[in-house]
Amino acid sequence: MRFIGAFILWIIVFIVAGAVFVWSGVWNVAADQPDSFLVRAVVGATRGYSIERRVHDIQPPSNLNDAAMVKEGAMHYAEMCSGCHLAPGMDDSEIRHGLNPKPPNLTRFAPEPAEAFWIIKHGIKMTGMPAWGPTHDDQKIWTMVAYLQKQPKMSAAEYQQLTANAAQEHEQEDHGATGMNSSMQRPMPAGTNAPASASTH
Ligand code: HEC
Repeated sequence: MRFIGAFILWIIVFIVAGAVFVWSGVWNVAADQPDSFLVRAVVGATRGYSIERRVHDIQPPSNLNDAAMVKEGAMHYAEMCSGCHLAPGMDDSEIRHGLNPKPPNLTRFAPEPAEAFWIIKHGIKMTGMPAWGPTHDDQKIWTMVAYLQKQPKMSAAEYQQLTANAAQEHEQEDHGATGMNSSMQRPMPAGTNAPASASTH
């Protein structure tokens, strides 16, 4: 009986301490405030287990090596992702410095396909990584995954060629083959105006 009483008392103490902590405002939510080791460890583990639990049913399509697929993915990537994740020939961007956590440089490694698909589709809460599923169907998301597999080995010249051609083709898909306004639709060349290329979409 005494044990149960002490247990309940401790639970009440924890709840009150937690509430005081929240209401006091001592926790600094500023993005430019580095996180403590404990927060990084807890959030990192939560992220890892949460994604692991959700990806194992996802089967990557067999055509991830397909050149047309990679090309389409490069075009989406240049428009929506390169500002945060960089691209071949791009050293840095302004938005990366202000984000906490900092977006990984996806020119350095190719993320595992099923996991990348899940993350691109659903995003990651409280990190700045948006969910692209509400605006892009699964097939389009797989093209980005296909591109990400090639990106670490791609030169700046190859990337520019791929995204320039891809932008023209995308435009023809959208507006017929007239080529109208092609200069306005084309993403900026990599490296010249990095943050602007990500904010066009
Ligand atoms: C506003 C910045 C921002 C944009 C735009 C953005 N991301 Fe992210 N992304 C992030 C951040 C931040 C993370 C890291 C999240 C974390 O630490 O859990 C991330 C994580 C990822 C990861 C997981 C990488 C790993 O560690 O395995 C992938 C894959 C990814 N993003 C792909 C994309 C793609 C593809 C696009 C474009 C369609 C995109 N992102 C657009 C900020 C962004």
